This record gives sequence, structure tokens and C-alpha cells, in this order.
Amino acid sequence: MDARQMKIKAAEAALAHVEHGMRLGIGTGSTAEEFVRLLAEKVAEGLEVQGVPTSERTARLCLDLGVPLKSLDELPELDLTIDGADEVDGRLQLIKGGGGALLREKIVAAASSRMIVIADETKVVEMLGAFPLPIEVNPFGLVATRIAIDKLAERLGLIGEIRLRGSADDTFTTDGGHHILDASFGRIPDAEALASQLNSIPGVVEHGLFINLASFAIIAGENGVRTLKA
Ligand code: A5P
Repeated sequence: MDARQMKIKAAEAALAHVEHGMRLGIGTGSTAEEFVRLLAEKVAEGLEVQGVPTSERTARLCLDLGVPLKSLDELPELDLTIDGADEVDGRLQLIKGGGGALLREKIVAAASSRMIVIADETKVVEMLGAFPLPIEVNPFGLVATRIAIDKLAERLGLIGEIRLRGSADDTFTTDGGHHILDASFGRIPDAEALASQLNSIPGVVEHGLFINLASFAIIAGENGVRTLKA
């Protein structure tokens, strides 16, 4: 089974949790896009759902495929969010934001009664941190914010390069108009402490550590699909 087939298997298993009339948060990334394609087939067959997309990219795909959308302000309380992840550990802590949509993804997940993560086995880790942690920052005061993050990392004993996403003349900008610093810490022994302390830096808009948000994860591997619970 190749990587795409595994993503499809995880997405198929997640679709089984979608019920008629649900208000759905719809994630971003290649795995979430497989879910959108399968969901669109069910919608064409008569399934009624209302989706809230976590990015402009996901919104475009949903609109192209006929999945009905609402804004989060129109549907501020959601039944279920289905989204991918860049890393997931045994406590269901996640790193997200490889695709740059972490802010909306986190707002949507937090507005949902349940969040199901869909991923292939390569995303499961013992300890978060091999995937660079995306930190969304306000463009104003970027250098000062970066220094504050460096100091925090030093205090927590986290060592690694922090890079501004994009190139010097083409900095990546999120749907919210912010930039992303990717922090290659390698290992993050206490994700909860890092998460709360990053939030206390004023220029940090949000970060890709998702703590206590996922209800369970559906993990697809060579030998089939399994459920990961905390
Ligand atoms: C988007 O910002 C991310 O959080 C994605 O959900 C995450 O990167 C997983 O993407 P893939 O399914 O493409 O690996």
C-alpha cells in the first residue's frame, strides 16, 4: 500500500463517523483532502452535512466538489472535526501546521465536540519534535518575537534552528496574514509546558501543538487501520 492509499484508508474509516445532519469541521492537508473527496461522494448520494473549512485551500476543494460550506460564525458549534496531523504521540498530542493552516485548524477543532485525527503510520511518534514545530507569528515585531521564542527554548532546554518559512523575497503568509517560524527542536519532552509558554509571547498568534483536542486518531498502516486512543 502506498502513502496515498493509506491516507484514503484512514479517511474512509473517519467517514464512518459522519452522520446525517452533522456540522463538520473540515481539515487541511493531503489526508484531509482525501476525506473531502470521499465526503463529496456521500453528499452527491444524499448525505446532508454542513462543513466549516479550516483553510481557503480546503474551502476551494469543497466548493469544487459540492460539499456545502458555512463560516464558523454561522456555525460556531460543531459536532465533529476531521483533520490530519504532522505528528501524533501516544497521548494524542499533535504537531500540526505543516500546511500552514494551524490557526484556523485549532479554532475549528476547539469549537468541535470531537476531533478525529486521520494519518498514516509515519506520523506516529514516541515523542513530538522530529517534525519542525510551526509557530504562527504576527509580522509586526517578527525579530523581537523570534528572540523571545529563542529565549524560551533555551530556558526549556530545547535546542534547534528556528527558520522563517518561505524564502527571503517570498515569505510564506497564512490565510490570516501572518508568518510562520518553523522550530526544529528535535524532541519536545514537555509539549504542554512549551504550548502554554509559547502562548504567553505577545507576537505569537498560535502554534502547532494541539494538546487535549483530539478525541482519537485513525491510523492507517500496511496491516490495516487502527484506532489510537489516549
Ligand atoms: C495543515 O496546516 C496541517 O496541519 C495538516 O493537517 C498536516 O500538515 C497534515 O498534512 P498531510 O495530511 O498533508 O500530511
